[in-house]
Amino acid sequence: MKLSKTTAQNSFKYSWLLGRIFPYIRPYLFRIICGFLVAIPLGLLDGVTAFALKPFMDYVVGKQDWVFNVFGHQYGISWQIFAFLIPFGVIAFAVFQGVLRYLNDYISAWTSQKITNDVKMALFHRLVYMHPQFFDENPSGIIISRYMSDPKTASEGIVEKIKSMTTSLFGAAGLICVMLYSSWKLAFIGVLVLCIAFIPVALIRKRIKATSNKNMVIGGNITTNINETYSGNKVMAAYELQERQEQYFKEQIHQSFNVNISLTKRAAWMSPMMYLIASCGIAIVLGYGTHLITSGQMTAGSFASFVTSLLLLYKPVKTLGNTMTSIQNIFVAMGRVFELFDLESEIKEKENPIKLEGLKDKIQFENVCFEYIENRPVLKNINLSVNKNETLAIVGNSGGGKSTIVNLLPRFYDIKSGSIKFDGVDIREFSIKSLRHNIAMVFQDNFLYTGTIRENILMGKIDATEDELMQAVEAAHLQELINELPEGLDTMLGERGLTLSGGQRQRVAIARAMIKNAPIVILDEATSALDNKSEAIVQKALDNLIKNKTVFVIAHRLSTIKNADRIAVINEGELVELGVHDDLMKIENGHYKSLYEMQFKKQAAANV
Ligand SMILES: Nc1ncnc2c1ncn2[C@@H]1O[C@H](COP(=O)(O)OP(=O)(O)O)[C@@H](O)[C@H]1O
Ligand SMILES: [Mg+2]
Repeated sequence: MKLSKTTAQNSFKYSWLLGRIFPYIRPYLFRIICGFLVAIPLGLLDGVTAFALKPFMDYVVGKQDWVFNVFGHQYGISWQIFAFLIPFGVIAFAVFQGVLRYLNDYISAWTSQKITNDVKMALFHRLVYMHPQFFDENPSGIIISRYMSDPKTASEGIVEKIKSMTTSLFGAAGLICVMLYSSWKLAFIGVLVLCIAFIPVALIRKRIKATSNKNMVIGGNITTNINETYSGNKVMAAYELQERQEQYFKEQIHQSFNVNISLTKRAAWMSPMMYLIASCGIAIVLGYGTHLITSGQMTAGSFASFVTSLLLLYKPVKTLGNTMTSIQNIFVAMGRVFELFDLESEIKEKENPIKLEGLKDKIQFENVCFEYIENRPVLKNINLSVNKNETLAIVGNSGGGKSTIVNLLPRFYDIKSGSIKFDGVDIREFSIKSLRHNIAMVFQDNFLYTGTIRENILMGKIDATEDELMQAVEAAHLQELINELPEGLDTMLGERGLTLSGGQRQRVAIARAMIKNAPIVILDEATSALDNKSEAIVQKALDNLIKNKTVFVIAHRLSTIKNADRIAVINEGELVELGVHDDLMKIENGHYKSLYEMQFKKQAAANV
């Protein structure tokens, strides 16, 4: 599943998307509704200022008292009082509006952040359980775009935009009421023109989707580039790749520019177009208004109110227009987010799985076939049986499929056909958690997390006692190193544990595997990256790790291979030879023999 290739299929299915996001909104619904309740008067208050112009013009400017009837009694307010009250009223309303705006901003920021966090959490939960192939196929930057930026755009946006839409809608509604009150004929013209002005917005949405997807991919590539510049900084410096990285970056930035400019070219006429249509509306209103006033059908005050409302209407309408555009973006992001929610790990657990509790007898590979990419077989019909507490060395040319075989045991990948059985039970019957709990792995390059050495070791067994920890440290030959460090086990490791040497890192990883104390141990070229001296000490640590365990060891060291109970030779995805060193050496033109001649003989000579 290549994420950069997927597009948000469902981004125009608005009700489906809202249905999907609703469960995340529900817990905060009450607060969101409170926020909207605040947004309604906030919008409506825009009309108040315009409305105040009518009495101001008609009574204050016209110097007339306002006379009105309540239950038959006549009351009057003099124009002087109006002249005094109206300015204060305007300020009072502004203060009131300010308070509401603050509340509204606070509530909507709070709720939208909460929703975003919930969506991100749910998505991250899915990410950590994705199958390794997913990570093989997707670069880090795209993952960051899709799992972090999109949910932010989608869920933060949705509350923000619905809020600003509510405010604008009610703002517009309030102003339209004032207009209707002033003159329904003029109001009719004004509203009609507005509706026409909105047509262009509807035309642009497909383009926005395409741009948004392109931007996501470009953004992801940029992040990947930065990650690679970071992780590969030594290679970059050594091979003078700075210019290459810069060139990539330049191209990506340029692409991003082109995508956005092409959207702008097509979309930027929208706003002037709307403005033009609106101006036509205003022109008509002015002309017709003059007629209404001169013919005595309308007071100057009403007309002033009307025109002010019409002008004020521009703001909420413009906001609505912008919101409609950005809401398209939000829906596209939402489409992508819920696409991810529907991605499932390809490594599936059976219903009612069995809990694997240690190995009692043997591990069997029966006619195991496997391929990473359709129709490109990597393992071909492997048959192999490994007894409990046996050590099996796997050797062969690089790319032959050795790592692949061992990665099948913890179900990092699922086989295509055949079966792998522990004590006669297919590993797909076990819960993934219990299966992996029974396997400890040490690779060539072991990832150490940011944190202390202690934390990194305890990852093997969170609830280990201090005694267990010390034993693991001892057995991994880490004691000396730790004694040298001022903060000992509590020394912080950098993002990739870079403050440690290769051999030291390897031993921390071995301690981690050690403390896990799993019955099955997999060593995939655990000493290959090391120099002779560190290799010797790491080897000692490994010897401790594999005592009384069922072990699969992929190694290039002759002594390790010779010490193994049996040796399996893998060539081009096939198990070609199986047996002990001496027997394999007897096969004329055998694979093992030729490997020995090429790779191991020198070591043998050096050791003698
Ligand atoms: N994640 C992967 N996706 C696709 N192909 C892979 C992947 N990992 C390994 N391969 C391919 O599978 C073959 C066997 O690889 P591997 O098991 O790593 O070999 P070995 O460990 O013996 O050197 C190689 O051709 C390699 O290119
Ligand atoms: Mg390998």
